[in-house]
Amino acid sequence: MRYVTLLALTVLAAFPAAADQAQLDRGRAIYAEYCTLCHGADGRRGQGFQTPIWGPQTQIAKFQNALGLFEYNEVLMPFDGPDKIDEAAKWAVTLYLLVNHGAMQAGQSLSRVNAAQIPIR
Ligand code: HEC
Repeated sequence: MRYVTLLALTVLAAFPAAADQAQLDRGRAIYAEYCTLCHGADGRRGQGFQTPIWGPQTQIAKFQNALGLFEYNEVLMPFDGPDKIDEAAKWAVTLYLLVNHGAMQAGQSLSRVNAAQIPIR
């Protein structure tokens, strides 16, 4: 059992970047397809909303942590049809926003397990 745990940890340590980079890549693709129209490719502004959704002047700190931001996206975004993308896609795009904002780093993954522990400032 102990050996199995060790082996699992070794495998995880060897491949985290690959696994988590996939979620970030997915988030980037989702953003490009479903969010750029209203928020701009750079998240600064688009046709739908004039406040940046990451970086300087953004107001996403009001969501307090990654779970709060996810829950907002879960219910409301994309604004023209929140059901256009599924829950996994919403986690991925939330990760993409937070990496761009500097609250998370490439190589990290985001899910219900860690979201409440990731602050947004
Ligand atoms: C059809 C236009 C439209 C699309 C597409 C869209 N949004 Fe939005 N977004 C808005 C509008 C409008 C608001 C402001 C809503 C409000 O305050 O009631 C907003 C607000 C937000 C906010 C909150 C920003 C803040 O400071 O309050 C986030 C985060 C966000 N959108 C993320 C996304 C993501 C992620 C996607 C793609 C999955 C997306 N949006 C797609 C129009 C859009």
